[in-house]
Amino acid sequence: MRLSINVDHVATLRNARGESQPDPVTFALMAEEAGADGVVVHLREDRRHINERDVYLLRDLVKTKLDLEMSCSDEIIRIAGKVLPELATLVPEKRQELTTEGGLNVLDNMELVGNTINQLHDSGILVSLFIEPDLNQIDAAKELGADFIEIHTGVFANLVKEEEQIEELDRISIAAKHAKKLGLGVNAGHGLNYQNIKLFRELTDIDEVSIGHAVIAKALIVGVKEAVREMEALINRQQ
Ligand code: PXP
Repeated sequence: MRLSINVDHVATLRNARGESQPDPVTFALMAEEAGADGVVVHLREDRRHINERDVYLLRDLVKTKLDLEMSCSDEIIRIAGKVLPELATLVPEKRQELTTEGGLNVLDNMELVGNTINQLHDSGILVSLFIEPDLNQIDAAKELGADFIEIHTGVFANLVKEEEQIEELDRISIAAKHAKKLGLGVNAGHGLNYQNIKLFRELTDIDEVSIGHAVIAKALIVGVKEAVREMEALINRQQ
C-alpha cells in the first residue's frame, strides 16, 4: 500500500488568520522527503482551504505525484486542464459540509460525471472517482471510463466496535476485489488514522491510501517528517 498525504488542513490553519503560514506547500515537500508517495489537495469551489497559488506551486515542486481532488464544476475542470495533475479525484461537494461527507453518487449523475471524465482525459489526466464500497457504483465508474476508484473509508473510521469495523472492512475488501477484476486502480481514504490503519492495512487489494487530518494533527506534536514516517512504518507493518 502506498501513502499519499492530503495537506488541505495545513491551509485551513493558514487561512484561520489570513496569513501565509503554515504553508501547505512546505508541508507537502517535507512529507515527500519523509517518504510519502504522493500529495493530495482539494481545490474546493469556495476555496475554504487550498487556493490556486497552492495548486500551481505544488504542480511545479511535487516530485512524486499530485492528486487534485475536485468537483465536476466547469471552473475547476478548466483549472485542472492547466495544472495537469497526475490524477484528478472527483468528489461530491456541498457548501455546508465540514469535510467530504460520503462518496460520489455516480449512478445518479452518469452524464455529468461522464462528461467530466472525458474532459479530463482529453487533457491527458487520469481520473479517480471517490465512491462508497458499492458494487453498482464501481460498475458505473468502469462504464464511464474511470481509471481508479477511491473507496470512502469514513464509515469504517467512525465505527468503534471491532466486529462492526471488521464487517465494514469485508464490504471494502469485496468492493476492492471487484474493482481490481474490472481493471481499475483502487485507492482508499477518509478518516484513516494511526489506530484504525492497523486493521485497514490487512486489506490486500488497496493500491494507495490518502490520509490528511490524522497526519497533520500528529505533525503539530512530533513534526512533519516523524508523523509521515510513523504512518509509513504502520502501513509497512514495521510497527
Ligand atoms: N480522500 C478524500 C476523497 C477526501 O475528501 C479526504 C478528506 O479531504 C481524504 C481522503 C482524507 O481524509 P482525512 O483528512 O480524514 O484523512
